[in-house]
Amino acid sequence: MREIKAFILDLDGVVTDTAEYHFRAWKQLADEERVTFTREHNEALRGVSRRKSLEILLGDHISRYTEEQILEMMERKNNYYKIYLETITKDDFLPGAKELLAGLKERGMKVAIGSASKNTRTVLTRLGILDFFDGISDGYTVSRAKPAPDVFVYAAGAVGVPTEYCVVIEDAKSGVQAALTGGMVAVGIAPKERVGAAHFRYDSTADIDLDEIFSS
Ligand code: BG6
Ligand code: MG
Repeated sequence: MREIKAFILDLDGVVTDTAEYHFRAWKQLADEERVTFTREHNEALRGVSRRKSLEILLGDHISRYTEEQILEMMERKNNYYKIYLETITKDDFLPGAKELLAGLKERGMKVAIGSASKNTRTVLTRLGILDFFDGISDGYTVSRAKPAPDVFVYAAGAVGVPTEYCVVIEDAKSGVQAALTGGMVAVGIAPKERVGAAHFRYDSTADIDLDEIFSS
């Protein structure tokens, strides 16, 4: 049985449904730029940094744009996203997320956030849980984005727990890859096609079985 001392949670798509807002904001930008972008295309953007997301979205079209235009598009998308963030309230947890947080604290776990988003603190503040976490690792703390393990390694350091004792909860393929590369236990909450590489997989946050994870 592996000793577990800390949980590192991805934010978008694990704690709250901001993954949907990211999609809508990218979709608006793509429509304006007359680039085809569907929910299927969006799969490749999950967990990925803002810049990398834009690169994937534009594909070959990227050569049409100058660096200045690329930066402007990143900002435009973020402005659309921030409008959605203003609608978030303390009720906007994904089903099971509040119970998960409480359950982890009850078990004496250190709990950290490991998110690629530069809006992490805004989202946590709107949810009313900024102070809940023992550590926060976000889009400002490391330069290499997922699937590099850096954002989770930083989170482990922030709570003072070696990575081998950490469990990561993720809804993105890139995030599961980051956790595995970092030598952590990976819990995927998404379809098998997306997070099948994880040690544990559940359909959603509400389905996470902590007893199963702790007894393995
Ligand atoms: C991740 C999301 O958490 O953060 C991605 O899954 C997003 O979709 C990335 O692109 C960066 O977020 P932000 O808020 O810094 O643009
Ligand atoms: Mg996510």
